[in-house]
Amino acid sequence: MVSPNQPPPRRTQGTPQPLPGRRMNPILCIIVALILLGLLVGLAILITYLTLRPKRLIYTVEAASVQDFAIGNDDHINAKFNYVIKSYNPEKHVSVRYHSMRISTAHHNQSVAHEEISAFKQRPKNETRIETQQLVSHNRALSKFNAKDLRAEKSKGTIEMKVYITARVSYKTWIFRSRRRTLKAVCTPVMINVTASSLNGFQRVLCKTRL
Ligand SMILES: *[C@@H]1O[C@H](CO)[C@@H](O)[C@H](O)[C@H]1NC(C)=O
Ligand SMILES: *[C@@H]1O[C@H](CO)[C@@H](O)[C@H](O)[C@H]1NC(C)=O
Ligand SMILES: *[C@@H]1O[C@H](CO)[C@@H](O)[C@H](O)[C@H]1NC(C)=O
Repeated sequence: MVSPNQPPPRRTQGTPQPLPGRRMNPILCIIVALILLGLLVGLAILITYLTLRPKRLIYTVEAASVQDFAIGNDDHINAKFNYVIKSYNPEKHVSVRYHSMRISTAHHNQSVAHEEISAFKQRPKNETRIETQQLVSHNRALSKFNAKDLRAEKSKGTIEMKVYITARVSYKTWIFRSRRRTLKAVCTPVMINVTASSLNGFQRVLCKTRL
């Protein structure tokens, strides 16, 4: 009498109620799947960013002058080179850490001075000016050919130099950091007016970079 009435309420209670936990709402399921997919795609893009080379960093020599420039009869050079180098990071999402940087300057194939720049970080789209302070040739021996050539250039008023940049860099996107790479740039020809300390007529030089 009472027992036949009991099963129907059980059935009605059991069947319409979705079992929470064991089975997810299909719409929620799709949303979660899409979010996961989005994260994976994002991760793939980030990793690709770091494994493939980012856009090359851009360097220019914005200004150049020389002080106390002299070549002795013994073909030794004394000079202080003042360069303003602009480093530009064109990336929107990648910051660059310079672990070390060395700037050197040469006439033809002969290096005459170099300077180490202390480590720095460059944020996305950042432009950093680097001014040499200690790029000094102190009684540096030149080859006969280079000494003769530089003397001739000096008497004409303009010397032709090259600027080399060598740096150890790593890139960072979000939390991913690339391994360290060696970056090299060459800026040539850097024409320096030896008769004037002013930068009148200086032609800025775009450097060629290689990573
Ligand atoms: C520079 O080049 C000249 C020939 O063009 C060569 O005789 C000389 O050894 C080179 N010097 C250096 C330092 O490479
Ligand atoms: C680039 O970064 C350096 C160092 O963080 C900062 O001094 C400089 O003002 C920045 N330049 C620009 C154009 O944002
Ligand atoms: C070097 O600078 C001086 C003084 O500003 C100028 O008279 C001369 O024309 C410049 N020489 C060259 C080659 O630009």
